[in-house]
Amino acid sequence: MCGIIAYVGRREVRPILLDGLGRLEYRGYDSAGIAVLTDSGLEVQKKAGRIADLSRHVGKPKKPSHQGISHTRWATHGEPSDVNAHPHLDRSGKLALVHNGVIENYQPLKRALTEQGHTFHSATDTEVLAHLIGKHYAEAPASSNGRRLIDAVRSALHDVKGTYGIAVMHEDYPGVIIGARRGSPLVLGIGEGEMFLSSDATALLPYTQKVVYLKDFDVAEIKAGQFAVETLTSGDTDYEIKELDFAPEAAERGDYEHFMLKEIHEQPHTIENAVRGRLNQEEASAQLGGLNMTPAQLRDIERVVVLGCGTALHAGMIGAHMLENEACVAAEADFASEFRFKNRPLQRNTVFFAVSQSGETADTLGAMREARRKGFRALGICNNVGSTIARESDGGVYMHAGPEIGVAATKSFVSQVAIFGLLTLCLGRMRYMSASTGREIIQAYEKLPNQINRILEQEAAIAAIAQKYSSAKSMLFLGRQYNYPVALEAALKMKEISYIHAAGFPAAELKHGVIALIDSQTPSVCICPEDSLHEKNISTIQEVKARKGPVIAVATEGDTEIKHHADDLIFVPRTVEMLQPILNILPLQLLAYHAAVALGRDVDKPRNLAKSVTVE
Ligand code: G6P
Repeated sequence: MCGIIAYVGRREVRPILLDGLGRLEYRGYDSAGIAVLTDSGLEVQKKAGRIADLSRHVGKPKKPSHQGISHTRWATHGEPSDVNAHPHLDRSGKLALVHNGVIENYQPLKRALTEQGHTFHSATDTEVLAHLIGKHYAEAPASSNGRRLIDAVRSALHDVKGTYGIAVMHEDYPGVIIGARRGSPLVLGIGEGEMFLSSDATALLPYTQKVVYLKDFDVAEIKAGQFAVETLTSGDTDYEIKELDFAPEAAERGDYEHFMLKEIHEQPHTIENAVRGRLNQEEASAQLGGLNMTPAQLRDIERVVVLGCGTALHAGMIGAHMLENEACVAAEADFASEFRFKNRPLQRNTVFFAVSQSGETADTLGAMREARRKGFRALGICNNVGSTIARESDGGVYMHAGPEIGVAATKSFVSQVAIFGLLTLCLGRMRYMSASTGREIIQAYEKLPNQINRILEQEAAIAAIAQKYSSAKSMLFLGRQYNYPVALEAALKMKEISYIHAAGFPAAELKHGVIALIDSQTPSVCICPEDSLHEKNISTIQEVKARKGPVIAVATEGDTEIKHHADDLIFVPRTVEMLQPILNILPLQLLAYHAAVALGRDVDKPRNLAKSVTVE
């Protein structure tokens, strides 16, 4: 949700900013802008629309520049327009700012500044912050120690409520960029004679592998060959330089038409990466060292509450079901945004899991903080190393899925489900799960990558089904037990990228109301594995068919009965019931992808969405 990239060094800055913005575009894409410093002062260019529009607008630079800040926006305050796009300037026009987050008290601040004679051009909260920093700068005496700009930023940030990741520069301070964060991510990239600030480390991959994940209340100053980090509260800080552990091409699209398709095809490796080193063959169990809990503490867990949003919540629902069904641990999943405003009585030995690919989702972070405030242990399941949830949690499990750039989450979902399976195995084996069941689950994990490949091989057939139904106005997704969250997730994928209305339901609920929607133009996707509920699922299909509804069934390889009932069939290999969602979601990701392609949608950047939602 909004992306920032800033650079200071020896190279021409504009191509670096535009390239970085392209890599951050998944975070927001309604408008974008850059500000660079040349020997005749600040040069600001901004535009509603995509980065490509901005690139055309920037064109060929007239004057060289080696320092700049830039931003790609997902609008919160003020519609997407040229004037609301970042960077914003202060009253003097000499200070430029880009911002990711929300300044909650911008209205009183704006009123006070207006009374002091400030004039605002945009409807944004960000312009208010630019003016506020500019005011502190103007009021400060010219300092001999070079701290006037950084001190102005610090003073202004003391006045604001809300969240921010910012980059600021000033004509009077050539060669210097100040960054600060609270609630929105900001990473400092360390190059050879060049420094970066970015909302996401993956945007820095072509330039450096060395980063500092800034923490809340950190204020950083970057110059071509050096950087310093201090805190807003005390002044001093400790920071850690980390090496990124993925190759630069991990964030490239390669030969795939879209990141989403690349990420769907990466899923055999996603499973391997989620499971590597975590299966314990000898004990027919799993080990998750990052939980930071002793075996006795793990045995004492009485309840698990899983929190997440969107796709992460769907994975969490499957996880909670696994924990109850297979590990005998009471468990539930809740919308992070709902949980944090509830006042639920919970046993002391309740453990929370905050599930988030980005590790930055504001609702999930808020809910996790609320759980910790009440004294509960909160663990994270995150992909982004060094993200806020990963840092603030009491421990957790990293997904190691590599960068996920497509806005529609795919590989992160299967990774999260795989990790919940490991947790189930670990907690189950400490309770009632037998060694033979444990071994069966381990064997199932080992087969998953090949089984996923077998599904990916059916892509052309799935694309044909997607094409056939792509003119539908509405689609239903039906599943039971483990496959109910799969139905929700498949419907979410369809909505997000094809804009076809889609909804997921527990299959048996069809007859309690949803059935009114069935007609010959409304396809139903029935997830119908050959399990203990197979016959009941067949009955659901018949209820749909009796009302002339077209049926696409996701069925188990070798099921000969199903072809008598469904119009279109997608077969998936069989695995243990708790891991079956990993295989069942795959063809449905492809179905959504190819429906969106057939409709000519912008698959990686669907309208109105952002990958990482850092506002509540
Ligand atoms: C946004 C995205 C969804 C994603 C959700 C949670 O709403 O559009 O695709 O599932 O955030 O993201 P997280 O990073 O917390 O997993």
